[in-house]
Amino acid sequence: MTTLADFIQGLPKVELHLHIEGTLEPELLFKLAERNGVTLKYDSVEALKQAYKFSNLQEFLDLYYDGAKVLLHEQDFYDLTWAYLEKCKVQNVVHTEIFFDPQTHTDRGILFATVINGINRAVQDGREKLEVSSKLILCFLRHLDETSAFETLEEALDYKDLIVGVGLDSSEKGNPPSKFERVFAKAREEGFLTVAHAGEEGPAANVKDSIDLLKVFRIDHGITSIYDDLLIAELAQKQIPLTVCPLSNLELKAVDDLKNHPLKKLMDHGVLVTINSDDPAYFGGYMNENFEASARALKLSKGDLCQLARNSVVASLLSEQEKERHFHAIEQYCRENT
Ligand code: ADE
Ligand code: ZN
Repeated sequence: MTTLADFIQGLPKVELHLHIEGTLEPELLFKLAERNGVTLKYDSVEALKQAYKFSNLQEFLDLYYDGAKVLLHEQDFYDLTWAYLEKCKVQNVVHTEIFFDPQTHTDRGILFATVINGINRAVQDGREKLEVSSKLILCFLRHLDETSAFETLEEALDYKDLIVGVGLDSSEKGNPPSKFERVFAKAREEGFLTVAHAGEEGPAANVKDSIDLLKVFRIDHGITSIYDDLLIAELAQKQIPLTVCPLSNLELKAVDDLKNHPLKKLMDHGVLVTINSDDPAYFGGYMNENFEASARALKLSKGDLCQLARNSVVASLLSEQEKERHFHAIEQYCRENT
């Protein structure tokens, strides 16, 4: 009999909601600080880890942006991304769609090129050496203004071949989708697909507006949709995927207990739900830990876990041919192990 952990480890998985800056483990953060001569507020890895206790999204974001200050050079972005892709390999994550936040870096004087070239080089190496495929999605920081987002979009145009889509992250409260309607329209005109964080801490209306105003093809988080029956029906009917991040929701107090997480209820309503890690270095787990914690708390069956793995392939930006290959691997694994 395989244990739940073994079953999840062996299941081929696709990750669709992952901030590369959120994979900065305390050990690498300290190493880069030393390499780059950056002074930290904490004097040890232990002390930093102790600070990873959050009451809400904003408390996390303050620490997350502060941590990113150790990233200065192209090699730093490479090392960060490579470490994450190695983790994917270990956890049998076969494909990943990675968010990066250029403004977190360009606002500190780091060139857009430094960020994207470092990340992209690791992505190429990941594909060749680890057989983990990746796509990149640029996120606009929603606490910054529209002008800054437009400037960032302008910079991204030189890298259209490396970036598949644009998204929207950072502080949801007070920064509704409507603030970025024009930027997203321009991004779509330029050929980018769109996604947005919505319904993480904010109301279900932010999910609805992301669909209607920003024309997103996927919603990141979307858990407050559970409070709006009409919206649930629309998500299910249009099969608009939700990239749910259970451990993130728990750590940021979006849910008080994983047992009360709406993931399973949304699945039962026919919504295309996926499981993801968001910022694994900060929330205590990568993909396997998110799958396992969710399975235990919500009593998910192996069949449910197989469904979640398939959902991620459906919701991904992979080609039909690549999707077929992953569906086949999941089907075979699930047939042999359930
Ligand atoms: N940036 C990184 N993680 C985020 C999250 N969970 N919500 C909004 N912005 C983020
Ligand atoms: Zn996120």
